Amino acid sequence: MDVAVIGGGITGITAAYLLKQRGHKVALLERGRCGGFDSLNTTGHLTFVTDTRLHKLVKVFGKESAKKAWEAGQAAMAMVASNVKQEGISCEFRWVPGYLHAPTNNAPSEEIAALQDDAQIATGFGFPAEYQAAIPNFKTPGVQFNVAKFHIGKYLQALVRTIPRKGSFVFENTEASAVNKNPVKVKAGDHTIHCRYVILATHNPLMGNEKLISAALLQTKLSLYSSYAIGARIPKNLWPEACFWDTAEPYHYLRIDSHRGFDYAVFGGEDHKTGQEKDTPAVYQRLEKKLRHLIPAAQVDHHWSGQVIETIDGLPYIGPTGRNQFAATGFSGNGVTFGTLGAMMAVDAFERRKNPWASLFAIERKKYRGAAWNYVKENKDFPYHLIHDRLESAEGKSLRSLPSNHGKILKIKGRKTAAYRDPEGKLTLCSPVCTHLKCIVAWNDAEKTWDCPCHGSRFAPTGEVLSGPAEKPLEPFKESGS
Ligand SMILES: Cc1cc2nc3c(=O)[nH]c(=O)nc-3n(C[C@H](O)[C@H](O)[C@H](O)COP(=O)(O)OP(=O)(O)OC[C@H]3O[C@@H](n4cnc5c(N)ncnc54)[C@H](O)[C@@H]3O)c2cc1C
Ligand code: FES
Repeated sequence: MDVAVIGGGITGITAAYLLKQRGHKVALLERGRCGGFDSLNTTGHLTFVTDTRLHKLVKVFGKESAKKAWEAGQAAMAMVASNVKQEGISCEFRWVPGYLHAPTNNAPSEEIAALQDDAQIATGFGFPAEYQAAIPNFKTPGVQFNVAKFHIGKYLQALVRTIPRKGSFVFENTEASAVNKNPVKVKAGDHTIHCRYVILATHNPLMGNEKLISAALLQTKLSLYSSYAIGARIPKNLWPEACFWDTAEPYHYLRIDSHRGFDYAVFGGEDHKTGQEKDTPAVYQRLEKKLRHLIPAAQVDHHWSGQVIETIDGLPYIGPTGRNQFAATGFSGNGVTFGTLGAMMAVDAFERRKNPWASLFAIERKKYRGAAWNYVKENKDFPYHLIHDRLESAEGKSLRSLPSNHGKILKIKGRKTAAYRDPEGKLTLCSPVCTHLKCIVAWNDAEKTWDCPCHGSRFAPTGEVLSGPAEKPLEPFKESGS
């Protein structure tokens, strides 16, 4: 085998697809079903406009690098557009106007100046961008760009279908449990894949059984945030088919899709650090209220959430993590664009071809202005939660207090226990100690998961890992022991 790709989201599927297209033999390993844990949560907004504002990128990285970062996004968008065309994929791919805008129409003068700045820098870099004193419908100041949107599920399924055969494979329900450097091999259950190169496309990077120091260090430069979205039918032709996102922190975004007979709105945001929001269902209520304020006739019929991974300096980490190993992570809310870019760069690295963005996104890049402070700010959560959550009392002692389809941290036989009762009444008891670095997990009632407040690992109600950095399930409760 030439390459083992671990993770079947946008990054892994695109990498495997491109490698197969170029005549390489590839094995794509996915713990669940292909489509990706977080990729299927996206709102399918494809853009070169980074979540980190352009004037900030210029300040932190300099003009040349900021331009390069946007050009990288543009190249990724072109790659998606070309894949859609080449494979004839019907995934509702459309170019639409995209508006970055102030949240209210009494925006302070600094906000207006920053928007004008973004428009001017973008135009100077050669990207079509126009400042508008009142963007459509919101009537607030903003900048219009050209963006794209598509149905990511349909796109990824079409790419996956092209991968198997002629020496290439897709292994679903297959968890990679160990990655070895020399000789290069990946272990999955009782099977071992020998290969020349490994691409870690697991969103949160896998450390492998060698606990590579660089991987552990990389982890401290990442912060996981939960992000929420709702979908609603809205009356036809009230809103233009477009994408909107505001400048608030945390921000909100709105995407309008046009269908026969009705329009559909996707509204999202309300991000918070994973595991640190006590009342997750209330987040959806806040989103619904805000959407109804914008579009009173909206009929909400979907809600979902997932994770975005932030970095300390605002750009993703994409590059080699060892001699024959490559990782891509830290995409913020631009994972469709940067996941695609990560795949393109991984193919170049495997083929030992020079890539124009290699040093800009390098995992070992030197620190840029402001990054050191963000590092301290984001990592202070770990010692705080490690100690505080251990000392905090359990939510009760009685299993009778646990309703069905619900989880609680209870004190059972003198020990804190993550207790879950499923909709049929069956109980599962686990240790609440996160298997990454031993923080105490918290119940997320909106998603029915155990979430870790330290570095954002998520576990199923019955303890299995849903997303890292933890790589082992929560330990089942034992009658005796610590
Ligand atoms: C609500 C929401 C909306 C978003 N909207 C947008 C948007 O509109 N535009 C945009 O650009 N970005 C958006 N994002 C961000 C984007 O979803 C992510 O950044 C992106 O999908 C990450 O892709 P990925 O392939 O790296 O990871 P994933 O899609 O998470 O794929 C990683 C895969 O690796 C698998 N895996 C993990 N460990 C192992 C293992 N040991 N063995 C085998 N497999 C493993 C997982 O099961 C998973 O399927 C959004 C995110 C959220 C939460
Ligand atoms: S301790 Fe790091 S994710 Fe839980």
